[in-house]
Amino acid sequence: MAEETIPLKVARYRPEHASMPYFDEYRVPYREDMVVLDALNHIKDEIDGSLAYRWSCRMGVCGSCGMMVNGKPRLTCSTFLREFYPKRVVVGPLRHFPVVRDLVVDMTDFMVKLKEVKPWIIRKEERPVQEGEYLQTTEEVDAYKQFSMCINCMLCYAACPVYGLEPSFIGPAAIALAQRYNKDNRDQGAEERLEICSEHDGIWQCTFVGECTKACPKGVDPAGAIQQYKLVGAMAWFKSWLLPWGER
Ligand code: SF4
Ligand code: FES
Repeated sequence: MAEETIPLKVARYRPEHASMPYFDEYRVPYREDMVVLDALNHIKDEIDGSLAYRWSCRMGVCGSCGMMVNGKPRLTCSTFLREFYPKRVVVGPLRHFPVVRDLVVDMTDFMVKLKEVKPWIIRKEERPVQEGEYLQTTEEVDAYKQFSMCINCMLCYAACPVYGLEPSFIGPAAIALAQRYNKDNRDQGAEERLEICSEHDGIWQCTFVGECTKACPKGVDPAGAIQQYKLVGAMAWFKSWLLPWGER
């Protein structure tokens, strides 16, 4: 019996060869248990070793294999070819990011934004070490756990039309990450983060399209995080207006 195959159309960008991106077409062996990343690995190993893309864990954990698959931001290690077979699969670099080469995008903007929200526990005063760790109950962990599941895959940025139009927008994952620490009862940095996230490029830019949450492969719900944050921001503004001398 003839081997089953599936066609792939893959975006290429090799600035030393061509100033504009273009597509290459390949046909790879098809098995029901193959994911898009397997197909790219087949191309790289057997057909065209020059193809560049990122991946590492192959199990939806490292966040490095995000690409556009048939127009949608997906983790290629968790997207099965059977979803598309026998039709063609079109693979491109993550939308809204500058392309370095083929399917590899420049992550600098995303990394800068993550750092801007101070994603670490801020304490005004540390407790002496001899008093022991900061223990938490299950309920206290549950308050932020959902937001701590982010794997920094950037799919939510590729899905976000606001980030596409206004790249200065701090964006879904960074705001969800800020909430991860705001909701941690060991943290005392919520006010500092609110100042950053309430700036012009912060939470108020979001028009609640909700595409970020639909694209997220880890159930983080960045759109929900932004709406919660807007409520906190509105309350803080209202208090500052009622109590202009800082009696909060
Ligand atoms: S919030 Fe979800 S989609 Fe966005 S970077 Fe984190 S895991 Fe990826
Ligand atoms: S290779 Fe790690 S998430 Fe896909």
